[in-house]
Formats: sequence, structure tokens, C-alpha cells
Amino acid sequence: MDPKSQKVKLNDGHFIPVLGFGTYAPEEVPKSEALEATKFAIEIGFRHVDSAHLYQNDEQVGQAIRSKIADGTVKREDIFYTSKIWCTSLRPEFVRPALEKSLKNLQLDYVDLCIIHSPMSLKPGNEFVPKDESGKLIFDSVDFCHTWEALEKCKDAGLTKSIGVSNFNHKQLEKILNKPGLKYKPVCNQVECHPYLNQSKLLEFCKSHDIVLVAYAALGSQLSSEWVNSNNPVLLEDPVLSAIAKKHKQTPALVALRYQIQRGVVVLAKSFNKKHIKENMQVFNFELTPEDMKAIDGLNRNIRYYDFQQAIDHPEYPFSEEY
Ligand SMILES: NC(=O)c1ccc[n+]([C@@H]2O[C@H](COP(=O)([O-])OP(=O)(O)OC[C@H]3O[C@@H](n4cnc5c(N)ncnc54)[C@H](OP(=O)(O)O)[C@@H]3O)[C@@H](O)[C@H]2O)c1
Repeated sequence: MDPKSQKVKLNDGHFIPVLGFGTYAPEEVPKSEALEATKFAIEIGFRHVDSAHLYQNDEQVGQAIRSKIADGTVKREDIFYTSKIWCTSLRPEFVRPALEKSLKNLQLDYVDLCIIHSPMSLKPGNEFVPKDESGKLIFDSVDFCHTWEALEKCKDAGLTKSIGVSNFNHKQLEKILNKPGLKYKPVCNQVECHPYLNQSKLLEFCKSHDIVLVAYAALGSQLSSEWVNSNNPVLLEDPVLSAIAKKHKQTPALVALRYQIQRGVVVLAKSFNKKHIKENMQVFNFELTPEDMKAIDGLNRNIRYYDFQQAIDHPEYPFSEEY
């Protein structure tokens, strides 16, 4: 099957490709790498690109998409582009300006999906991670249901085709689903998800509400990132993943990606390395057996790479709930 045609239907009728290209890279990585990697990813068949204002490379990612449209590789409608509203823009009056700023950086007329990056609001301003003199994060108090209403208006205005959330636990999702006057349900919840944190309960909850779970850090995250708790074991060195990979003549990375697709999860894979980018597209060329899936399910051990410990006292800190 042509990998580009593997999509799932969202609850608003739009379609999302099941494999997405992650574009976050730690600050020290030159921005030009995002440009080259995104162009290459589109050339070899990625049609879903995940980005965010926070990553500070959306200008380059937008440039890559536009250059691949200009040279005839793709049309705009072939690309599924995701943007995110960062924690410092969750006050309802800041939502549309934040999305408009992303569109300006991208030089695109619309995004396909815009999601609330996290339910935890932080003090508005130019600092992505606002801190006081003692180094403590400065929280803001915003009801994310009001953020959601502002996002619904962005959809109505045509700035984004679909709207969703990220890093929400099931209670926070429920709060939106039960909101009086809800106009649109979230189409997705993008969360950390990999064999060491397989999110089986959250996945079941999402499926029961026709919400797609999108997996980030599916390859075990980027351990050099300031956001990542690097005391955790390295996922791609796991012996069970390695043995299954060997059996199928594949790699542990491909097994970790394939695992998600077979359980109905849309999966993101970040790589700025051409060999890896090309390899990751091979996820459509093999199948895991039910026994393989079970063995990978057995690796679950509640390891969270992006634990955002600094925000643990935030009233909306999502990761204290079981799921
Ligand atoms: N919503 C959120 O809060 C949130 C949080 C984190 C991430 N995200 C999104 O999810 C995306 C993916 O998550 P992530 O960035 O944490 O990384 P990831 O997809 O788990 O990848 C981790 C690392 O794996 C390496 N890799 C990729 N393909 C490989 C392969 N075939 N073999 C061996 N190694 C391979 C990459 O290094 P190379 O570049 O050297 O290949 C990359 O640095 C992000 O880029 C971002 O778009 C969202």
C-alpha cells in the first residue's frame, strides 16, 4: 500500500496520516537542519508534519513545505500540518494572535490541526518558560475550557481545519467533553507514548470518545533535550524490542513505530538524519504478530521522558493522574 494513503478519519471528518514527521530539536541544533530534514521527509513520502511555536523553527519548516509545493512534489492539500498554542498564550484573547503568528512564520493560509500544547497556563509574555528570581515557574490561571472556546472560533474563521489538545489526562479531556455549549470535540490528544509508557488506559478512553491518540517520543525522545529527564533508560536499546526487530529483519525504531500504528495510534517520528528519515518510512512494509504486540505491551513501566517536573505544583499538572 502507498504509505502516503494511510490515514485515519478524525471526528470532524478530516483525515490525518498515521505517520507524522516530528520537527522539535534541542536549541543548539542549527535551524537550517529543520529546513533540510523537512524537505527530505516530504520528498521521501511524509505527508504529516508536526510543529509548534515553542520549537522556534516553524519558519524553516514552513519554508520547506512551501518549497516542496513550489517544485511540484506536493500540493498544499496533500500536507497535514500541526501547530500548537503554547502555555503562555492560553488566555482566550491570546489564542488567535498566537495562531496568526504561527501562520505568519509559516507563510501559510491555514494549518490542518491546531492543538493546545498543554493544559498548564504560564504567565503571558515573551519568555516561553517564565520564572521568578528564585527560578520558580510563574503560573497563570486560565480555565482551558475558555482556551478551547477561542480555538473553536479559530476553526470557524478557517485558520485551522481541526482542533485538538496535547498532554491532557482523561479528566481534563472529560472537562472539555462535558463543557456546556461545546461546539467541537477535540479531534486528538497528543501525548507521550511508547513501549515504556504505552498509555493503554488513555488510549481506550480516547477511542471510546472518537478522539485520536497521537504519540510523541515514540522512539524514546531526544535525551539531549533540556525538556527530557535523561536519567531514564534508552528505549531503542531495549532487548525485547531488539529481539523482535532482529526476527523481522527490521530495527528497534521501526518496531516501536509499527507497534503504535497496529494499535490504532497516530505516531510521530522525529529525525534530522536522512538515513533515519528514510528508514522510518519503512514502517508500512512489515507487520508485527499478536505475540510481538503482547511482548511489547509487557514493556510498559511508567517511564515518562518529558515529565515537566518544574510544573509539578501547577493546578493543572496532568501527569499526577494515573491516565
Ligand atoms: N506535544 C508535546 O508536548 C510534544 C513533546 C515532545 C515532542 N513532540 C513532538 O513529537 C515529535 C517526536 O518526539 P521527540 O522529538 O521526543 O523524538 P522521537 O520521535 O522519540 O525521536 C527520538 C530520537 O530518535 C532518533 N531517531 C529517529 N529515527 C531513528 C531511527 N530510525 N533509528 C534510530 N534513531 C532514530 C532521532 O535522532 P536523529 O535526529 O539523529 O535521527 C531522535 O532524536 C517531536 O519532534 C515533536 O514534533 C510533542
